[in-house]
Amino acid sequence: MAIQVLEERVFILNGKGFSYVIYLSEEGIPLNAYWGAGITHPEDFLDAAFIREAFHIPSPQLWPEEYAPFGGLRYKETAVKAVFSDGVRDLLLIFDRWELREDVLCIILRDESEPLEAALCYRVQEELGILERWCELQNTGDKSFTLEHCASAQFSLPGTGFQSINYTGRWSGEFQQKNTPVSCGKQVYESLCGLTGHQCAPFFAVHRGVNEEHGPVWFGVLSHSGNFEITVEDVCAQKVNIVAGISDTDFTWILGAGERFETPHVLAGYAEGLGAMSRMLHRFAREVQLPKPLAQKPLPVLYNSWYATEFSVTQEQQMALAERAAQLGVELFVMDDGWFSGRVDSTAGLGDWAADSEKFPQGLHPLIRRVKELGMDFGLWVEPEMVNPDSALYRAHPDWILRYPNRDPIQFRSQYMLDMGSPLVNEHLYHVLNELLCQYDITYLKWDMNRYVAEMGSTLCSEENGKSLWYRHTMGVYELAERLRRAHPALELEACASGGGRVDFGAMRYFDEFWPSDNTDPLDRLSIQRHYSLLYPVKCMRAWVTDDTNFNNRVVPLEFALHTAMCGALGIGTNLSKAAPVTLDLLRKNIAVYKDIREIVQLGDLYRLSSFENSPIQVVQYQLEGHSVLFAFLRGGQYGRRFYACFPRGLDPERLYRCRTGEVILQKRGDYLMYHGLTLELYGDWSSVIVQLDTIEVQEH
Ligand code: GLA
Repeated sequence: MAIQVLEERVFILNGKGFSYVIYLSEEGIPLNAYWGAGITHPEDFLDAAFIREAFHIPSPQLWPEEYAPFGGLRYKETAVKAVFSDGVRDLLLIFDRWELREDVLCIILRDESEPLEAALCYRVQEELGILERWCELQNTGDKSFTLEHCASAQFSLPGTGFQSINYTGRWSGEFQQKNTPVSCGKQVYESLCGLTGHQCAPFFAVHRGVNEEHGPVWFGVLSHSGNFEITVEDVCAQKVNIVAGISDTDFTWILGAGERFETPHVLAGYAEGLGAMSRMLHRFAREVQLPKPLAQKPLPVLYNSWYATEFSVTQEQQMALAERAAQLGVELFVMDDGWFSGRVDSTAGLGDWAADSEKFPQGLHPLIRRVKELGMDFGLWVEPEMVNPDSALYRAHPDWILRYPNRDPIQFRSQYMLDMGSPLVNEHLYHVLNELLCQYDITYLKWDMNRYVAEMGSTLCSEENGKSLWYRHTMGVYELAERLRRAHPALELEACASGGGRVDFGAMRYFDEFWPSDNTDPLDRLSIQRHYSLLYPVKCMRAWVTDDTNFNNRVVPLEFALHTAMCGALGIGTNLSKAAPVTLDLLRKNIAVYKDIREIVQLGDLYRLSSFENSPIQVVQYQLEGHSVLFAFLRGGQYGRRFYACFPRGLDPERLYRCRTGEVILQKRGDYLMYHGLTLELYGDWSSVIVQLDTIEVQEH
């Protein structure tokens, strides 16, 4: 049973592979009694023993609280803080009641004297092994008060020796996974960029020693694309305290009489090994989080013009690219930046979402018609949140940007940010983009966001609401995306923010796919993709092959680059008008191979078999029902070595598999392949192979 309650004081949440037990203390404080592998006898927790008082340490500091309020004798990171009309700034949240709201367990806490009720909400995705948590804060009085902090969830794990995983990153170097000991103080992973950002990600993964296959890991991802804060803290009491939610730096939310604020959700889990953690999150993404119906279908192979043309687009040149793309087997043709009114370079045009009349004298119709005749769908690049000072929109509405009235607003990439939280601005953007989608046969938009927020002020918002603008902006993005999707159910949306600046489980509810990095150098990309896959499924990871060597001045053979991109949702960004016949031929062949295997790549379970970090070869495997695909990469050959062992996973030990590497075919049982291993032949620098494993019936003689 997913939710059990024993004697009104022990709450047990059970999902595949885990149990989570909450114990109500004598003081009426919900405490975490257990989180880990599934337990069989929850009654053992009826008399759960907690350290009550240690010499000169106040008890609340030691309690493994489910949702600690700021105040009382607490000096650790807490989950909620409010300021009330009578000047009180701390909270005494005590258990009031519990309720089952359909499949959600709500443990409701109330302040002793102030009008705040906090419903701690828990939903178990039983089969997927995911525990969803959030908090609903309600003003039960007749005067408003101000929330200064309201995390989504707090977790506590007993013991010492924990380590914490997150990313460090930057533009073109996203998702660099790092592991650090949790030995003193707090580790805070925070974004103040107004969106997820490139620096770190809204998640925690703590462990006491874990690798791909072994070792317990406790994790949680925050479903939110704005400023976030994840704190992992050693509370000096043989406990680690974890708080996850929106950032409280420059945040307040005024809760009027009777109003409610629902925090973003945290999707938490417990797994044995990082590989299992990734597979759980990937499944959750595909089955619950990603928009339907594309979540269950492989994404089309796309062509994107950015690296070929940058801003200098013309109708003829795009048509020429489209013709070649169609011959290669591309299914979706995307014109990137440069198509709209006045867009000659990055300094002009943002905000004016109509085709540039010089570049496209008859609008986009001739180009789209040609793309359709060629049998492809058509897509466009937009950056809805932005405006250039040199644009009709800015000239008409200079007051629509985020800024402080008495200061010159800061430009970045020659652009300002619109106040998306304002219903007026949001409505305008909906109107313009909806018009674009109604006027033309467009099935895909790449929604970019090329600057971080600065100066979170707005003349459209009342002064006392200023600190809520960060949150309102994110909600504005979600609202616009949702409205567009509702009006155009077949629309495919990609989120991009100077590469991978908006990849998270919140955006995943509105966007079908992400652009993880502008860096298309295959070697860097293999590392970015590998670490991206720690949390996010490759189903929604766009990966293009381009001619671009800007990042490292490194020239990598096309086949290696293609195989790298085929590890995700394949895209082509090569300048096809300049491509030699041999290049086109290789692209065509590999696109055909990709179409055969993409269902396994995009919808299968992912196993990171080895990486360049600790092996000469990097191998990734995708497994769907009786089929597996492996991509193996050798960066540099050494010592004349030609053969490398690799150990596939997730196969049926008893079934016979046909293993195909090019022309080479071998038949072996699953157990042989997994335990004895598969020998891969990789020779010379930049060598790569694709291996397909398919179950076959054994012929009885
Ligand atoms: C960002 C994106 C690129 C491209 C450019 C266009 O940098 O990450 O992929 O779309 O904007 O200006």
